[in-house]
Amino acid sequence: MKPYSLIAAIALLSACTPFTSPQAGRNIYLQNCASCHGADGTGGAHIPDLTQITARAGGTYPQRRILDKLDGYATGAVVYSGAEMPNFGDLLTGRLARVETDHGRSRLLPERIIALEAYLRTIQR
Ligand code: HEC
Repeated sequence: MKPYSLIAAIALLSACTPFTSPQAGRNIYLQNCASCHGADGTGGAHIPDLTQITARAGGTYPQRRILDKLDGYATGAVVYSGAEMPNFGDLLTGRLARVETDHGRSRLLPERIIALEAYLRTIQR
């Protein structure tokens, strides 16, 4: 892990509740996402490598786009043609929490979506 991602992870951890933490996100990830994106997130044929989100975006982690992808706003906005990611309606239920976004705003989202996004952030290479 690069030093700045370690600092980001620590900052995230301190801002999170147990339900929105990267660790909670990792558990949700392993149950719902690893079958396609792999346990380590590196993907496969027609499945994006989730450790390269920042790299693909030119070095800046695209938080808003990833939150949109996870909460379903970006349904149909595919990264690669040929394969589509399923919708995760069950992840969109449950308690809501507020997440600080990069642009100094905040969004109210299901805790499980916030946790997943926090986890994805920690696995960027
Ligand atoms: C059935 C296989 C499948 C499953 C399960 C799956 N995905 Fe995906 N995912 C894809 C495919 C295919 C794409 C590329 C097409 C697209 O963007 O929809 C993708 C794209 C993505 C992207 C966009 C990457 C980028 O660089 O913008 C993210 C983020 C993502 N998935 C996260 C997740 C998470 C988190 C889960 C679990 C809740 C999950 N995926 C479950 C197949 C899957």
